[in-house]
Amino acid sequence: MPAAPARTRTQVGIVGAGPAGLLLSHLLALRGIDSVLVEDRSREHCEARQRAGVLEDGSVTLLREAGLAGRLDREGLEHGGIYLQFAGGRHHIDFRKLTGRTVTVYAQTEVVKDLIEARLAAGGQLEFDVTGTEVDGLDTAHPVLRYTSADGTGHEVTCDAIAGCDGFHGICRPAVPAGLMTVWEREYPYAWLGILADVPPSTDELIYAHHPDGFALHSLRSPLVSRLYLQVAPDEEISAWPDDRIWAELQRRFALPGWELKEGPVLDKGIIPMRSFVSAPMRHGRLFLAGDAAHIVPPTGAKGLNLALGDVAVLAGALDDLLRGDARLADAYSDDCLERVWRRTHFSWWMTTMLHTAPRADPMDTELQLAQLRYVTVSRAAAASLAENYTGYPPQR
Ligand code: FAD
Ligand code: DHB
Repeated sequence: MPAAPARTRTQVGIVGAGPAGLLLSHLLALRGIDSVLVEDRSREHCEARQRAGVLEDGSVTLLREAGLAGRLDREGLEHGGIYLQFAGGRHHIDFRKLTGRTVTVYAQTEVVKDLIEARLAAGGQLEFDVTGTEVDGLDTAHPVLRYTSADGTGHEVTCDAIAGCDGFHGICRPAVPAGLMTVWEREYPYAWLGILADVPPSTDELIYAHHPDGFALHSLRSPLVSRLYLQVAPDEEISAWPDDRIWAELQRRFALPGWELKEGPVLDKGIIPMRSFVSAPMRHGRLFLAGDAAHIVPPTGAKGLNLALGDVAVLAGALDDLLRGDARLADAYSDDCLERVWRRTHFSWWMTTMLHTAPRADPMDTELQLAQLRYVTVSRAAAASLAENYTGYPPQR
């Protein structure tokens, strides 16, 4: 017979040590609220997973106000705009001039490292490498979080609320009974192939390139490391892309007279699917979904990480009030988030469809994209709209 699980209590059980779960446990601790955070991958895996790289200015302010921006302020690279490249020309969109705001290039890997370090330094309860995570009793006042630690010990944690921060493939969203949630979804007929390269960036700001053979993006991770993406077919195998093929394709899509794309050793590569997905409400009883567990955007425009941080900034306040007997913010949590979520979902879809070449695109589709690209680079109002959304609209709380 298996040993009885260790029974403990906490105020908030959190599933997932991505940016959403980690920041939530920190924000709750600042409010004096206990949490137990469980993660089914290793700490090393969570810290090394290559993902997003751009923080809206509201996300930077949020991390700074939470006392988490020491290294971000030293190492983050403030960018005042982006380049849009199409039809043989490269055009600058000046965020500072158009909105007075900027974004900061600071990798998700670094945000996650900073958050894990802060939680462990504060004595936070954070367990990696767990198995068998389950949530139960969600429509009672005391939901239960079950999991097995890496050493094989079973745990049953009685909570006042559970935060599902376990990403798109997690167990929390599927724990909501069928029929109680509405889902909106779009899959795109393309994917991104992303590389991390040991070479200084060939640009001072990100380049989003429209090309008849497919989109390309030049981003960066530091003054010495570049991050680059290529549009590829959704069913593409990474083994079909040796490094020299990737560089040849990047060279073709970014080619511009008088400008050179520097090449270097590839440190990491992978294929990223593209999907828009929103589920609502982001709450069922005492289960609150946040970040990718509730919504996914295609990466164009760099909104996924920012949305995750924004959700838990709202959730921390809502849980604080709920645990003190005032349910109004908890009741409003989903609607409070969804306005921000849908605006960014639209912006990500708009950037994606303006810049990518669909497999069966005809000349009319291409001319419509180019008309829109010319408009956002020539009209101050259109450029300001792009800049306002890219830097974060509506702003994070
Ligand atoms: P996640 O970061 O996914 O964290 C969820 C955590 O829950 C994970 O650590 C997972 O291991 C854990 N978990 C899952 N199931 C369980 C379980 N049963 N028990 C315990 N733990 C569990 N956004 C951009 O803006 N730009 C990009 O370039 C970009 N690239 C991306 C590339 C990839 C491959 C992916 C997947 C996403 C990318 N995103 C990008 C999106 C962005 O990284 C996410 O929006 C962000 O990570 C969301 O944070 P989160 O905390 O909600 O979820
Ligand atoms: C990055 C990713 C994005 O999706 C984007 O729009 C800009 C930058 C990045 O990983 O650096």
